[in-house]
Amino acid sequence: MSTFTLGPARMGDAPTIAHLSRDLIEADLPWSWTPRRVAGLMRQRECAAVIARDQNRLAGFILAQYGEESVHIALLGVAEAYRRQGLGRRLVQWVEETAMVAGLFLVRLEVRAVKRDARHFYASMGYRETDRVDGYYSGVEDAIKMSRDLRTLSTFNRPTSK
Ligand SMILES: CC(C)(COP(=O)(O)OP(=O)(O)OC[C@H]1O[C@@H](n2cnc3c(N)ncnc32)[C@H](O)[C@@H]1OP(=O)(O)O)[C@@H](O)C(=O)NCCC(=O)NCCS
Repeated sequence: MSTFTLGPARMGDAPTIAHLSRDLIEADLPWSWTPRRVAGLMRQRECAAVIARDQNRLAGFILAQYGEESVHIALLGVAEAYRRQGLGRRLVQWVEETAMVAGLFLVRLEVRAVKRDARHFYASMGYRETDRVDGYYSGVEDAIKMSRDLRTLSTFNRPTSK
């Protein structure tokens, strides 16, 4: 089992995040999350970028945008070697907890329709599929929109009654 350290991403991490996004998220699609685009998102005031490190290796990352009414997860990825160890869950929970501190209770995202594993992952965290967008990815692949209302506590994080 790996030991991760979660912390803020630095601008110098943008190229690694972009290359991981290409391989983990955009495989078989045109590369849209280039180093320049990732860096541009990280520079936005409303963006939070968190990475997980295993010593010097970047094991996972999440980039989210905090809006007026909701938080949008723009990028989430966990490197193959670090999957099914609860890292993806920790990264999403970090965004959810900071969203609530900011007074935002809706978390939104899009996921590739063909990525059943990612859809299962979000469903396991209480996210619901709300819509399908034709050709969302470079006009060639559909997206599923998913969201979670954080006011609806799941069994996972609901305090136990005595
Ligand atoms: C989706 C992703 C982030 C999950 O990361 P992870 O660290 O492996 O996920 P976790 O270990 O936190 O899994 C939490 C739960 O999600 C579900 N889950 C995770 N991966 C799954 C899979 N491949 N198939 C089915 N369910 C899955 C399980 O219920 C899991 O709990 P369990 O391991 O106790 O059964 C990772 O697989 C990934 O980076 N995929 C490629 C990129 C991507 O699709 N990103 C999301 C869209 S931007």
